[in-house]
Amino acid sequence: MRMMAPELRRRYLQFFKEKGHAIIPSASLIPQLDPTVLFQSAGMQPLVPYLLGQPHPQGSRLVNVQKCIRTDDIDEVGDTFHLTFFEMLGNWSLGNYWKQEAIAMAMEFLLDPEIGLGLEKSVLHITVFEGDEQVSADEEAADTWEKLGIPRNHIHYLPYKDNWWALGDTGPQGPDTEIFVDIGLQYCEDNCRPGCGCGKFVEIWNLVFMSYNREEDGTLTPLKNKNIDTGMGLERALQVLNQLPSVFETDVFKPIIVKIKEIAQISNPSTDQMHAIRIIADHIRSAAMALADDQGLVPSNVERGYVIRRLLRVAIRRGLQLGIDQFFLGKLVPPVIESLGDEYDELIRNKDHILTEIEKEEKRFRTTVRRGLRIAERTLKEKGELTGKDAFTLFATYGFPVEMTVQIAEENGQQVNLEEFRKEFEQHRQISRDATQQKFTSGLADHSQEVVCLHTATHLLHAALHKFVSSRVYQKGSNITKERLRLDVQLNRKLTPEELEKIETWVNDIIKRDLPISFETMSPEEAQKQRALGFFGEKYGEQVKVYSVGEVSKEICSGPHVSCTGELGEFKITKQKRIGADTLRLRAMLTSQKS
Ligand code: ALA
Repeated sequence: MRMMAPELRRRYLQFFKEKGHAIIPSASLIPQLDPTVLFQSAGMQPLVPYLLGQPHPQGSRLVNVQKCIRTDDIDEVGDTFHLTFFEMLGNWSLGNYWKQEAIAMAMEFLLDPEIGLGLEKSVLHITVFEGDEQVSADEEAADTWEKLGIPRNHIHYLPYKDNWWALGDTGPQGPDTEIFVDIGLQYCEDNCRPGCGCGKFVEIWNLVFMSYNREEDGTLTPLKNKNIDTGMGLERALQVLNQLPSVFETDVFKPIIVKIKEIAQISNPSTDQMHAIRIIADHIRSAAMALADDQGLVPSNVERGYVIRRLLRVAIRRGLQLGIDQFFLGKLVPPVIESLGDEYDELIRNKDHILTEIEKEEKRFRTTVRRGLRIAERTLKEKGELTGKDAFTLFATYGFPVEMTVQIAEENGQQVNLEEFRKEFEQHRQISRDATQQKFTSGLADHSQEVVCLHTATHLLHAALHKFVSSRVYQKGSNITKERLRLDVQLNRKLTPEELEKIETWVNDIIKRDLPISFETMSPEEAQKQRALGFFGEKYGEQVKVYSVGEVSKEICSGPHVSCTGELGEFKITKQKRIGADTLRLRAMLTSQKS
């Protein structure tokens, strides 16, 4: 059956609405519940509290289309089905219906030509959990599929790594059953079956029987409710329904691919060119959707901003590979809006922000590339070769991607010694690790009582910003003199008078409570697990010190600090100033400080 994205979204929502599900809107791409997670990567992510037992205001049957970004497989993008941005159609039962009913509904939707997908039963292949020491094989799922007419030789038992679904190490999870469609290609080898990855079997839907919770220590406990969590990748379903060779031929990609080909002046791309075109199309979609979601996001070197920067820079590089030597990313925004704007009006509302940031980033990167090219070509001319060390200098000093150095060398019939590049890279990493370690072990240059007091006050201010302003106000820099502290944090606005007052009151209260300060040494991973504040993007050594102020603040730091907050005196924020688009600089002091 031929079906376009708007019709597929409509049918999915309508089908489950008729089955008593409330339609809920897509949540923001940026997880609100867990600031350590970069982007929403599954439809269930915003629903975690409800899967853990909290009642959902709209009931226990829900359905939606959730926008997602997954970057784990970013290097796979360019094949027939991997994407960084995708839409996930999902339906949920929060302790309402269970396995048999979920599978029966799925089957009806898969087969029905009027209200569902109209697929032939014969093309469906199903996987179920084969069982392990803790949870037995999912015979109930297999039997249910068989009763509904799926022959046994189309039901495959797969292990934990394939048929157990969890968002991360902990949290709600369980065995799943996955629905694959055989798109009619040859078997790649004798034991080719769903999960093989050759592209013959396309996974379109996953039904998770989410009835367990994994604790921090790894134990698996039954959840209060037995939940159903499903996810159907919209783009993959469209590929299968329209019998297309890849997700990139579907209507959500069409205008973007057409535009890239037009800009590159390529009508019949080679396999390599098509690979590059797909990557550009995927990356521009993700970057535009991320920028559309939250006006505060901009390309940068940390966290979400870094993901956006990487997507855009890879797209530009792929463009260069296609011979596109003009500014082009901005021209791809209108086709992204054309294909997704009706569904996601944030693309239209925030078009200026998206365009400005994408164009700025392209300009920055092209300058880097131009400078790098000049230096690489000059080096090549002078020395007759480009060594691994040259490649490293170009990378470390000028931000010039090593792949491009390799390319220039190859164009001149040469090879870059990548082993040498890697060695330099490692050595450099070690030096910066040692420097960081030193920074943390020697900590403050001045150990006077005034400076140490202000250092502890800096931790309290940082904790207060997280508590009252946003859990995303990461520290970007700090500078302390005997007279004042200065803290730069990632925030794109000034604090309101109410926030200032709340912060000062809270910090002064902590000071009055005379809380003890202590530290522990642990691995950076453990520190992150304990939610210690730290510098994101910073490379730590094997072990770090984590300083705690009572129960109210935990931060990676090498000290020194006072022993009790009562030593601090009265805390006051004296000045706030925005420096750059996303940095707020705060100054504060301690008055009537005891010494
Ligand atoms: N949460 C499941 C998935 O993302 C449905 O595959």
